[in-house]
Amino acid sequence: MTSPELPDVAVGPAPSAPPVERPRITVIGTGYLGATHAICMAVLGFEVLGVDVDPRKIEALASGRVPFFEPGLPEKLREALDSGRLRFGTDFAEAAEWGDVHFVCVGTPQAKDSNAADLRYVESAFAELASRITRRALLVGKSTVPIGTAARLTELVHETSPAGLQLELAWNPEFLREGYAVEDTLHPDRLVFGVPSDWAEQQLRAAFRPILDAGTPLVVADLATAELVKVAANSFLATKISYINAMAEICEVTGADVNLLAQALAYDSRIGGRFLKPGLGFGGGCLPKDIRAFIYRAEELGVGQSVAFLREVDAINLRRRARIVDLIRELAGGSLEGVRVAALGAAFKPNSDDIRDAPALEVARMLRTEGAIVTVYDPQAGENARRAYGGLNYADSLADVARNADIVALLTEWQEFRDADPEYLGGLVAQRKIVDGRQALDADDYRAKGWEYRALGRPAQVPAVQLTLDVKGLTLASA
Ligand code: UDX
Repeated sequence: MTSPELPDVAVGPAPSAPPVERPRITVIGTGYLGATHAICMAVLGFEVLGVDVDPRKIEALASGRVPFFEPGLPEKLREALDSGRLRFGTDFAEAAEWGDVHFVCVGTPQAKDSNAADLRYVESAFAELASRITRRALLVGKSTVPIGTAARLTELVHETSPAGLQLELAWNPEFLREGYAVEDTLHPDRLVFGVPSDWAEQQLRAAFRPILDAGTPLVVADLATAELVKVAANSFLATKISYINAMAEICEVTGADVNLLAQALAYDSRIGGRFLKPGLGFGGGCLPKDIRAFIYRAEELGVGQSVAFLREVDAINLRRRARIVDLIRELAGGSLEGVRVAALGAAFKPNSDDIRDAPALEVARMLRTEGAIVTVYDPQAGENARRAYGGLNYADSLADVARNADIVALLTEWQEFRDADPEYLGGLVAQRKIVDGRQALDADDYRAKGWEYRALGRPAQVPAVQLTLDVKGLTLASA
Protein backbone atom coordinates (compact mmCIF):
# COMPACT_ATOMS: atom_id res chain seq x y z
CA MET A 1 0.00 0.00 0.00
CA THR A 2 1.33 3.42 -0.86
CA SER A 3 1.59 6.30 1.55
CA PRO A 4 -0.57 9.38 1.01
CA GLU A 5 2.41 11.32 -0.35
CA LEU A 6 2.97 9.04 -3.33
CA PRO A 7 1.47 10.04 -6.69
CA ASP A 8 -1.65 8.32 -7.99
CA VAL A 9 -0.08 5.60 -10.15
CA ALA A 10 -1.51 2.22 -10.92
CA VAL A 11 0.42 -0.70 -9.47
CA GLY A 12 -2.38 -3.29 -9.54
CA PRO A 13 -2.80 -6.05 -12.07
CA ALA A 14 -3.28 -3.63 -14.99
CA PRO A 15 -0.50 -1.02 -14.75
CA SER A 16 -1.67 0.64 -17.93
CA ALA A 17 -4.93 1.81 -16.30
CA PRO A 18 -4.37 4.55 -13.70
CA PRO A 19 -7.08 5.25 -11.13
CA VAL A 20 -9.77 7.59 -12.38
CA GLU A 21 -9.17 11.02 -10.85
CA ARG A 22 -12.84 11.81 -10.37
CA PRO A 23 -14.56 8.44 -10.49
CA ARG A 24 -18.19 8.08 -11.48
CA ILE A 25 -19.92 6.59 -8.52
CA THR A 26 -22.80 4.16 -8.31
CA VAL A 27 -24.53 3.25 -5.08
CA ILE A 28 -26.35 -0.07 -5.05
CA GLY A 29 -29.14 -0.18 -2.48
CA THR A 30 -30.79 3.12 -1.61
CA GLY A 31 -32.04 2.34 1.87
CA TYR A 32 -30.89 4.27 4.86
CA LEU A 33 -27.15 3.91 4.29
CA GLY A 34 -27.17 3.93 0.49
CA ALA A 35 -29.46 6.92 0.04
CA THR A 36 -27.38 8.96 2.48
CA HIS A 37 -24.13 7.91 0.83
CA ALA A 38 -25.38 8.63 -2.70
CA ILE A 39 -26.74 12.05 -1.74
CA CYS A 40 -23.63 13.08 0.19
CA MET A 41 -21.23 11.94 -2.56
CA ALA A 42 -23.15 14.10 -5.05
CA VAL A 43 -23.05 17.03 -2.63
CA LEU A 44 -19.28 16.53 -2.45
CA GLY A 45 -19.07 17.03 -6.22
CA PHE A 46 -19.17 13.52 -7.69
CA GLU A 47 -21.49 12.28 -10.40
CA VAL A 48 -23.61 9.60 -8.75
CA LEU A 49 -26.14 7.01 -9.87
CA GLY A 50 -28.23 5.38 -7.12
CA VAL A 51 -29.71 1.98 -7.97
CA ASP A 52 -32.31 -0.08 -6.16
CA VAL A 53 -34.52 -3.04 -7.01
CA ASP A 54 -37.48 -1.24 -5.38
CA PRO A 55 -38.97 1.20 -7.93
CA ARG A 56 -40.97 2.99 -5.20
CA LYS A 57 -37.81 4.01 -3.36
CA ILE A 58 -36.25 5.16 -6.60
CA GLU A 59 -39.30 7.21 -7.59
CA ALA A 60 -39.43 8.86 -4.18
CA LEU A 61 -35.76 9.80 -4.18
CA ALA A 62 -35.79 10.92 -7.82
CA SER A 63 -38.70 13.23 -7.04
CA GLY A 64 -36.87 14.73 -4.09
CA ARG A 65 -38.51 12.80 -1.25
CA VAL A 66 -36.50 10.88 1.35
CA PRO A 67 -38.59 7.79 2.22
CA PHE A 68 -37.53 7.77 5.90
CA PHE A 69 -36.97 10.34 8.63
CA GLU A 70 -33.44 11.71 8.81
CA PRO A 71 -32.80 15.31 9.89
CA GLY A 72 -31.03 17.38 7.21
CA LEU A 73 -31.16 14.71 4.50
CA PRO A 74 -34.14 16.11 2.51
CA GLU A 75 -32.30 19.43 2.12
CA LYS A 76 -29.16 17.64 0.93
CA LEU A 77 -31.21 15.55 -1.53
CA ARG A 78 -32.65 18.73 -2.99
CA GLU A 79 -29.19 20.27 -3.26
CA ALA A 80 -27.80 17.14 -4.95
CA LEU A 81 -30.68 16.84 -7.43
CA ASP A 82 -30.46 20.54 -8.28
CA SER A 83 -26.74 20.17 -9.00
CA GLY A 84 -27.58 17.70 -11.77
CA ARG A 85 -24.97 15.27 -10.42
CA LEU A 86 -27.36 12.82 -8.78
CA ARG A 87 -29.80 10.49 -10.47
CA PHE A 88 -31.56 7.27 -9.58
CA GLY A 89 -32.56 4.15 -11.50
CA THR A 90 -33.29 0.44 -11.32
CA ASP A 91 -31.04 -0.73 -14.13
CA PHE A 92 -27.97 -2.71 -13.05
CA ALA A 93 -26.69 -2.87 -16.63
CA GLU A 94 -26.57 0.92 -16.83
CA ALA A 95 -24.77 1.11 -13.48
CA ALA A 96 -22.27 -1.55 -14.55
CA GLU A 97 -21.51 0.23 -17.79
CA TRP A 98 -21.37 3.77 -16.39
CA GLY A 99 -19.66 3.54 -12.99
CA ASP A 100 -16.01 3.47 -12.02
CA VAL A 101 -16.51 2.87 -8.30
CA HIS A 102 -19.58 0.89 -7.20
CA PHE A 103 -20.60 1.08 -3.55
CA VAL A 104 -22.78 -1.79 -2.36
CA CYS A 105 -25.00 -0.60 0.50
CA VAL A 106 -27.68 -3.26 0.81
CA GLY A 107 -28.90 -4.58 4.14
CA THR A 108 -27.65 -7.60 6.08
CA PRO A 109 -30.53 -8.37 8.45
CA GLN A 110 -30.54 -11.16 11.00
CA ALA A 111 -31.46 -14.48 9.41
CA LYS A 112 -34.98 -15.73 10.18
CA ASP A 113 -33.83 -19.07 11.65
CA SER A 114 -30.56 -18.18 13.41
CA ASN A 115 -28.35 -15.38 14.72
CA ALA A 116 -26.31 -15.34 11.53
CA ALA A 117 -26.41 -12.39 9.13
CA ASP A 118 -28.57 -12.96 6.06
CA LEU A 119 -26.20 -12.26 3.17
CA ARG A 120 -28.51 -12.94 0.28
CA TYR A 121 -28.97 -9.25 -0.67
CA VAL A 122 -25.24 -8.58 -0.56
CA GLU A 123 -24.43 -11.64 -2.62
CA SER A 124 -27.08 -10.84 -5.16
CA ALA A 125 -25.98 -7.20 -5.50
CA PHE A 126 -22.35 -8.16 -6.12
CA ALA A 127 -23.32 -10.94 -8.53
CA GLU A 128 -25.78 -8.77 -10.49
CA LEU A 129 -23.20 -6.06 -10.97
CA ALA A 130 -20.16 -8.24 -11.57
CA SER A 131 -21.84 -10.27 -14.28
CA ARG A 132 -22.45 -7.04 -16.23
CA ILE A 133 -19.14 -5.24 -15.74
CA THR A 134 -16.84 -5.57 -18.74
CA ARG A 135 -14.02 -3.18 -17.84
CA ARG A 136 -11.70 -2.18 -15.05
CA ALA A 137 -13.70 -1.03 -12.02
CA LEU A 138 -13.84 -1.18 -8.26
CA LEU A 139 -16.61 -2.79 -6.23
CA VAL A 140 -16.77 -1.51 -2.66
CA GLY A 141 -18.78 -3.20 0.07
CA LYS A 142 -20.15 -0.93 2.79
CA SER A 143 -22.64 -3.32 4.36
CA THR A 144 -21.82 -4.90 7.74
CA VAL A 145 -20.81 -8.49 7.02
CA PRO A 146 -19.25 -11.48 8.79
CA ILE A 147 -15.47 -11.65 8.54
CA GLY A 148 -14.40 -13.56 5.45
CA THR A 149 -17.32 -12.38 3.30
CA ALA A 150 -15.19 -9.99 1.21
CA ALA A 151 -12.68 -12.74 0.39
CA ARG A 152 -15.48 -15.06 -0.67
CA LEU A 153 -17.16 -12.35 -2.73
CA THR A 154 -13.85 -11.58 -4.44
CA GLU A 155 -13.75 -15.13 -5.78
CA LEU A 156 -17.38 -14.93 -6.84
CA VAL A 157 -16.83 -11.65 -8.64
CA HIS A 158 -13.75 -12.88 -10.48
CA GLU A 159 -15.58 -16.00 -11.59
CA THR A 160 -18.72 -14.23 -12.79
CA SER A 161 -17.46 -10.98 -14.30
CA PRO A 162 -16.44 -10.62 -17.94
CA ALA A 163 -13.83 -8.18 -16.56
CA GLY A 164 -12.21 -11.01 -14.56
CA LEU A 165 -9.27 -9.81 -12.45
CA GLN A 166 -9.78 -6.28 -13.77
CA LEU A 167 -12.67 -6.00 -11.38
CA GLU A 168 -11.39 -5.49 -7.84
CA LEU A 169 -13.24 -5.62 -4.56
CA ALA A 170 -12.63 -3.44 -1.51
CA TRP A 171 -14.39 -2.96 1.83
CA ASN A 172 -15.21 0.41 3.32
CA PRO A 173 -17.31 0.04 6.48
CA GLU A 174 -19.69 2.82 7.45
CA PHE A 175 -20.16 4.08 10.98
CA LEU A 176 -23.07 6.44 10.52
CA ARG A 177 -25.60 6.88 13.26
CA GLU A 178 -29.24 7.38 12.49
CA GLY A 179 -30.21 10.93 13.31
CA TYR A 180 -26.68 12.14 12.44
CA ALA A 181 -26.29 10.39 9.11
CA VAL A 182 -25.43 13.50 7.07
CA GLU A 183 -22.84 14.75 9.55
CA ASP A 184 -21.32 11.28 9.96
CA THR A 185 -21.06 10.83 6.18
CA LEU A 186 -19.67 14.26 5.31
CA HIS A 187 -17.44 14.55 8.38
CA PRO A 188 -16.68 11.01 9.57
CA ASP A 189 -14.28 10.62 12.47
CA ARG A 190 -12.28 8.14 10.38
CA LEU A 191 -12.29 6.28 7.08
CA VAL A 192 -11.30 2.63 6.79
CA PHE A 193 -10.28 1.15 3.44
CA GLY A 194 -9.90 -2.60 3.19
CA VAL A 195 -8.09 -3.03 -0.12
CA PRO A 196 -6.46 -5.84 -2.09
CA SER A 197 -4.05 -3.62 -4.10
CA ASP A 198 -2.51 -0.17 -4.43
CA TRP A 199 -4.76 0.51 -7.39
CA ALA A 200 -7.85 -0.14 -5.28
CA GLU A 201 -6.48 2.10 -2.54
CA GLN A 202 -5.77 4.95 -4.95
CA GLN A 203 -9.19 4.58 -6.51
CA LEU A 204 -10.85 4.80 -3.10
CA ARG A 205 -8.68 7.77 -2.19
CA ALA A 206 -9.96 9.49 -5.33
CA ALA A 207 -13.56 8.68 -4.37
CA PHE A 208 -13.08 10.16 -0.91
CA ARG A 209 -10.72 12.99 -1.91
CA PRO A 210 -12.77 15.88 -0.44
CA ILE A 211 -13.18 14.07 2.88
CA LEU A 212 -9.51 13.10 3.04
CA ASP A 213 -8.45 16.63 2.08
CA ALA A 214 -10.41 17.87 5.10
CA GLY A 215 -7.94 15.96 7.28
CA THR A 216 -10.07 12.92 8.11
CA PRO A 217 -7.88 10.11 9.48
CA LEU A 218 -7.59 7.09 7.20
CA VAL A 219 -6.75 3.53 8.12
CA VAL A 220 -5.74 1.40 5.15
CA ALA A 221 -6.08 -2.28 5.91
CA ASP A 222 -6.64 -5.73 4.50
CA LEU A 223 -10.17 -6.90 3.75
CA ALA A 224 -10.62 -8.96 6.93
CA THR A 225 -9.55 -6.11 9.22
CA ALA A 226 -11.90 -3.70 7.48
CA GLU A 227 -14.80 -6.10 7.99
CA LEU A 228 -13.83 -6.64 11.61
CA VAL A 229 -13.52 -2.92 12.45
CA LYS A 230 -17.25 -2.45 12.08
CA VAL A 231 -18.41 -5.33 14.26
CA ALA A 232 -15.65 -4.66 16.78
CA ALA A 233 -16.79 -1.02 17.08
CA ASN A 234 -20.45 -1.93 17.47
CA SER A 235 -19.61 -4.67 20.00
CA PHE A 236 -17.60 -2.21 22.04
CA LEU A 237 -20.43 0.32 22.06
CA ALA A 238 -22.97 -2.34 23.01
CA THR A 239 -20.68 -3.56 25.77
CA LYS A 240 -20.33 -0.06 27.19
CA ILE A 241 -24.11 0.39 27.32
CA SER A 242 -24.67 -3.02 28.90
CA TYR A 243 -21.86 -2.38 31.36
CA ILE A 244 -23.57 0.67 32.83
CA ASN A 245 -26.91 -1.14 32.74
CA ALA A 246 -25.34 -4.05 34.67
CA MET A 247 -24.20 -1.46 37.21
CA ALA A 248 -27.81 -0.24 37.33
CA GLU A 249 -28.85 -3.74 38.38
CA ILE A 250 -26.35 -3.55 41.25
CA CYS A 251 -27.65 -0.11 42.16
CA GLU A 252 -31.18 -1.44 42.28
CA VAL A 253 -30.37 -3.86 45.12
CA THR A 254 -28.02 -1.56 47.01
CA GLY A 255 -29.88 1.73 46.94
CA ALA A 256 -27.06 3.35 44.94
CA ASP A 257 -27.84 5.76 42.09
CA VAL A 258 -26.62 4.71 38.63
CA ASN A 259 -26.95 8.22 37.25
CA LEU A 260 -24.49 9.60 39.76
CA LEU A 261 -22.29 6.56 39.22
CA ALA A 262 -22.23 7.13 35.44
CA GLN A 263 -21.44 10.81 36.00
CA ALA A 264 -18.54 9.99 38.28
CA LEU A 265 -17.17 7.36 35.89
CA ALA A 266 -17.45 9.72 32.93
CA TYR A 267 -15.03 12.21 34.51
CA ASP A 268 -12.33 9.56 34.10
CA SER A 269 -11.11 10.44 30.62
CA ARG A 270 -10.01 6.84 30.09
CA ILE A 271 -13.65 5.80 30.42
CA GLY A 272 -15.53 8.80 29.02
CA GLY A 273 -19.23 9.49 29.21
CA ARG A 274 -20.41 8.57 25.71
CA PHE A 275 -22.48 5.39 25.42
CA LEU A 276 -22.46 5.21 29.20
CA LYS A 277 -26.05 6.34 29.50
CA PRO A 278 -28.03 3.90 31.63
CA GLY A 279 -31.61 3.06 30.79
CA LEU A 280 -33.68 0.84 28.62
CA GLY A 281 -30.70 -0.25 26.56
CA PHE A 282 -29.87 -0.48 22.90
CA GLY A 283 -31.99 -1.45 19.93
CA GLY A 284 -32.12 -0.56 16.25
CA GLY A 285 -31.05 -2.18 13.04
CA CYS A 286 -27.37 -2.50 13.95
CA LEU A 287 -26.16 -3.11 17.49
CA PRO A 288 -28.39 -6.08 18.45
CA LYS A 289 -28.07 -8.01 15.21
CA ASP A 290 -24.39 -7.18 14.75
CA ILE A 291 -23.31 -8.59 18.10
CA ARG A 292 -25.36 -11.75 17.51
CA ALA A 293 -23.91 -12.26 14.03
CA PHE A 294 -20.43 -11.66 15.46
CA ILE A 295 -20.91 -14.39 18.07
CA TYR A 296 -22.22 -16.71 15.38
CA ARG A 297 -19.28 -16.07 13.07
CA ALA A 298 -16.69 -16.34 15.85
CA GLU A 299 -18.13 -19.74 16.76
CA GLU A 300 -17.91 -20.85 13.13
CA LEU A 301 -14.28 -19.80 13.16
CA GLY A 302 -13.62 -21.78 16.35
CA VAL A 303 -13.04 -18.69 18.52
CA GLY A 304 -16.47 -18.42 20.10
CA GLN A 305 -14.88 -18.09 23.53
CA SER A 306 -13.29 -14.77 22.55
CA VAL A 307 -16.66 -13.09 22.23
CA ALA A 308 -18.66 -15.22 24.69
CA PHE A 309 -19.06 -12.08 26.83
CA LEU A 310 -21.24 -10.60 24.08
CA ARG A 311 -23.94 -13.12 24.98
CA GLU A 312 -24.07 -11.53 28.41
CA VAL A 313 -24.07 -8.06 26.82
CA ASP A 314 -27.15 -9.11 24.85
CA ALA A 315 -28.79 -10.71 27.89
CA ILE A 316 -28.24 -7.65 30.13
CA ASN A 317 -29.72 -5.50 27.39
CA LEU A 318 -32.85 -7.62 27.04
CA ARG A 319 -33.29 -7.80 30.84
CA ARG A 320 -33.71 -4.02 30.93
CA ARG A 321 -36.95 -4.32 29.00
CA ALA A 322 -38.40 -6.83 31.47
CA ARG A 323 -37.13 -4.81 34.42
CA ILE A 324 -38.89 -1.63 33.35
CA VAL A 325 -42.12 -3.56 33.08
CA ASP A 326 -41.51 -4.70 36.70
CA LEU A 327 -41.03 -1.10 37.74
CA ILE A 328 -44.22 0.04 36.02
CA ARG A 329 -46.14 -2.84 37.60
CA GLU A 330 -44.72 -1.93 41.00
CA LEU A 331 -45.79 1.67 40.57
CA ALA A 332 -49.25 0.47 39.55
CA GLY A 333 -49.55 -1.36 42.86
CA GLY A 334 -48.71 -4.91 41.77
CA SER A 335 -50.93 -5.54 38.75
CA LEU A 336 -51.12 -4.02 35.30
CA GLU A 337 -54.62 -5.27 34.57
CA GLY A 338 -56.66 -2.33 33.27
CA VAL A 339 -53.93 0.23 34.06
CA ARG A 340 -53.79 3.03 31.50
CA VAL A 341 -50.16 3.54 30.47
CA ALA A 342 -49.01 6.47 28.33
CA ALA A 343 -45.97 5.17 26.44
CA LEU A 344 -43.78 8.07 25.33
CA GLY A 345 -41.76 6.93 22.33
CA ALA A 346 -41.71 4.07 19.85
CA ALA A 347 -38.52 4.63 17.83
CA PHE A 348 -35.38 2.78 18.98
CA LYS A 349 -33.84 6.15 19.72
CA PRO A 350 -34.75 9.83 19.32
CA ASN A 351 -34.44 11.65 15.96
CA SER A 352 -35.32 8.50 14.08
CA ASP A 353 -38.49 6.83 12.84
CA ASP A 354 -36.79 3.43 12.91
CA ILE A 355 -38.60 0.86 15.03
CA ARG A 356 -36.37 -2.13 14.32
CA ASP A 357 -35.78 -3.96 17.61
CA ALA A 358 -37.07 -0.89 19.43
CA PRO A 359 -36.96 -1.37 23.22
CA ALA A 360 -39.87 1.08 23.56
CA LEU A 361 -42.27 -1.00 21.49
CA GLU A 362 -41.14 -4.23 23.09
CA VAL A 363 -41.98 -2.75 26.50
CA ALA A 364 -45.35 -1.49 25.25
CA ARG A 365 -46.12 -4.96 23.92
CA MET A 366 -45.13 -6.63 27.22
CA LEU A 367 -47.29 -4.20 29.21
CA ARG A 368 -50.23 -5.00 27.01
CA THR A 369 -49.70 -8.73 27.46
CA GLU A 370 -50.14 -8.15 31.19
CA GLY A 371 -53.46 -6.42 30.66
CA ALA A 372 -52.42 -2.76 30.62
CA ILE A 373 -54.20 -0.38 28.26
CA VAL A 374 -51.24 1.07 26.42
CA THR A 375 -51.32 4.19 24.28
CA VAL A 376 -48.19 5.10 22.36
CA TYR A 377 -47.04 8.45 21.07
CA ASP A 378 -43.87 9.07 19.07
CA PRO A 379 -43.10 12.34 17.25
CA GLN A 380 -41.94 10.51 14.10
CA ALA A 381 -42.26 6.74 14.38
CA GLY A 382 -46.02 6.51 15.03
CA GLU A 383 -46.88 5.44 11.50
CA ASN A 384 -44.23 2.71 11.37
CA ALA A 385 -45.28 1.48 14.82
CA ARG A 386 -48.96 1.42 13.85
CA ARG A 387 -48.18 -0.76 10.86
CA ALA A 388 -46.03 -3.20 12.85
CA TYR A 389 -47.89 -3.35 16.18
CA GLY A 390 -51.60 -3.14 15.56
CA GLY A 391 -52.64 -4.19 19.07
CA LEU A 392 -51.61 -0.94 20.76
CA ASN A 393 -53.47 2.37 20.89
CA TYR A 394 -51.84 5.36 19.28
CA ALA A 395 -52.06 9.06 20.02
CA ASP A 396 -51.04 11.95 17.81
CA SER A 397 -49.67 14.27 20.45
CA LEU A 398 -48.11 14.33 23.88
CA ALA A 399 -51.25 15.86 25.35
CA ASP A 400 -53.43 13.13 23.85
CA VAL A 401 -51.28 10.30 25.11
CA ALA A 402 -51.01 11.73 28.62
CA ARG A 403 -54.70 12.48 29.06
CA ASN A 404 -56.18 10.30 31.84
CA ALA A 405 -53.13 8.05 32.08
CA ASP A 406 -52.50 6.21 35.33
CA ILE A 407 -48.80 5.93 34.59
CA VAL A 408 -46.55 7.72 32.12
CA ALA A 409 -43.58 5.71 30.81
CA LEU A 410 -40.79 7.56 29.01
CA LEU A 411 -39.32 4.97 26.65
CA THR A 412 -37.52 7.02 23.95
CA GLU A 413 -35.90 10.27 24.99
CA TRP A 414 -37.19 12.70 22.34
CA GLN A 415 -36.47 16.36 23.11
CA GLU A 416 -40.22 17.01 23.17
CA PHE A 417 -40.50 14.71 26.19
CA ARG A 418 -37.46 16.19 27.91
CA ASP A 419 -38.94 19.66 27.46
CA ALA A 420 -42.41 18.75 28.73
CA ASP A 421 -43.56 20.74 31.73
CA PRO A 422 -44.35 18.38 34.64
CA GLU A 423 -47.04 20.74 35.88
CA TYR A 424 -48.76 20.83 32.49
CA LEU A 425 -48.51 17.03 32.12
CA GLY A 426 -49.74 16.64 35.69
CA GLY A 427 -52.89 18.52 34.74
CA LEU A 428 -53.66 15.94 32.04
CA VAL A 429 -52.96 12.61 33.72
CA ALA A 430 -55.21 10.71 36.11
CA GLN A 431 -52.31 10.05 38.50
CA ARG A 432 -48.92 11.74 38.73
CA LYS A 433 -46.81 8.63 38.30
CA ILE A 434 -43.90 8.46 35.88
CA VAL A 435 -41.24 5.90 34.99
CA ASP A 436 -38.25 7.44 33.24
CA GLY A 437 -36.83 4.62 31.13
CA ARG A 438 -34.07 6.80 29.69
CA GLN A 439 -32.91 8.87 32.67
CA ALA A 440 -33.88 11.86 30.61
CA LEU A 441 -36.06 13.88 32.97
CA ASP A 442 -35.34 16.13 35.90
CA ALA A 443 -36.34 13.86 38.78
CA ASP A 444 -36.27 16.69 41.34
CA ASP A 445 -38.54 18.86 39.22
CA TYR A 446 -41.07 16.06 38.75
CA ARG A 447 -40.98 15.16 42.43
CA ALA A 448 -41.37 18.78 43.39
CA LYS A 449 -44.54 18.90 41.29
CA GLY A 450 -45.98 15.95 43.19
CA TRP A 451 -45.07 13.18 40.79
CA GLU A 452 -44.02 9.76 41.93
CA TYR A 453 -40.89 9.46 39.79
CA ARG A 454 -39.11 6.14 39.26
CA ALA A 455 -36.14 5.17 37.11
CA LEU A 456 -34.11 2.01 36.66
CA GLY A 457 -31.09 1.95 38.93
CA ARG A 458 -32.15 4.90 41.05
CA PRO A 459 -33.62 4.74 44.52
CA ALA A 460 -37.32 5.38 44.91
CA GLN A 461 -38.20 8.46 46.91
CA VAL A 462 -41.42 9.66 48.37
CA PRO A 463 -42.65 12.56 46.25
CA ALA A 464 -42.33 15.95 47.82
CA VAL A 465 -46.03 16.78 47.98
CA GLN A 466 -47.05 20.35 47.68
CA LEU A 467 -48.47 20.81 51.12
CA THR A 468 -49.62 24.05 52.56
CA LEU A 469 -51.11 24.21 56.02
CA ASP A 470 -52.61 27.35 57.30
CA VAL A 471 -52.88 27.04 61.05
CA LYS A 472 -54.23 30.11 62.79
CA GLY A 473 -52.44 32.49 60.47
CA LEU A 474 -49.19 30.51 60.55
CA THR A 475 -48.36 29.15 57.06
CA LEU A 476 -46.23 26.01 56.73
CA ALA A 477 -45.20 25.20 53.21
CA SER A 478 -43.36 22.17 52.01
CA ALA A 479 -42.40 21.27 48.44
C1 UDX B 1 -24.99 2.36 15.57
C2 UDX B 1 -23.52 2.81 15.64
O1 UDX B 1 -23.38 3.89 16.56
C3 UDX B 1 -23.06 3.24 14.27
O2 UDX B 1 -21.69 3.60 14.30
C4 UDX B 1 -23.27 2.08 13.32
O3 UDX B 1 -22.88 2.43 12.04
C5 UDX B 1 -24.72 1.64 13.31
O4 UDX B 1 -25.13 1.32 14.64
P1 UDX B 1 -27.36 3.58 15.49
O5 UDX B 1 -27.96 2.21 15.46
O6 UDX B 1 -27.88 4.62 14.56
O7 UDX B 1 -25.79 3.48 15.22
O8 UDX B 1 -27.58 4.12 16.97
P2 UDX B 1 -26.69 4.56 18.21
O9 UDX B 1 -26.70 6.02 18.32
O10 UDX B 1 -25.38 3.90 18.19
O11 UDX B 1 -27.58 3.98 19.40
C6 UDX B 1 -27.82 2.58 19.51
C7 UDX B 1 -28.73 2.26 20.65
O12 UDX B 1 -28.06 2.41 21.90
C8 UDX B 1 -29.99 3.14 20.77
O13 UDX B 1 -31.09 2.29 21.04
C9 UDX B 1 -29.70 4.05 21.94
O14 UDX B 1 -30.87 4.45 22.59
C10 UDX B 1 -28.84 3.15 22.81
N1 UDX B 1 -27.91 3.87 23.70
C11 UDX B 1 -26.94 4.64 23.19
C12 UDX B 1 -28.02 3.71 25.08
O15 UDX B 1 -28.90 3.00 25.57
N2 UDX B 1 -27.14 4.35 25.91
C13 UDX B 1 -26.14 5.13 25.41
O16 UDX B 1 -25.37 5.67 26.21
C14 UDX B 1 -26.04 5.29 24.01
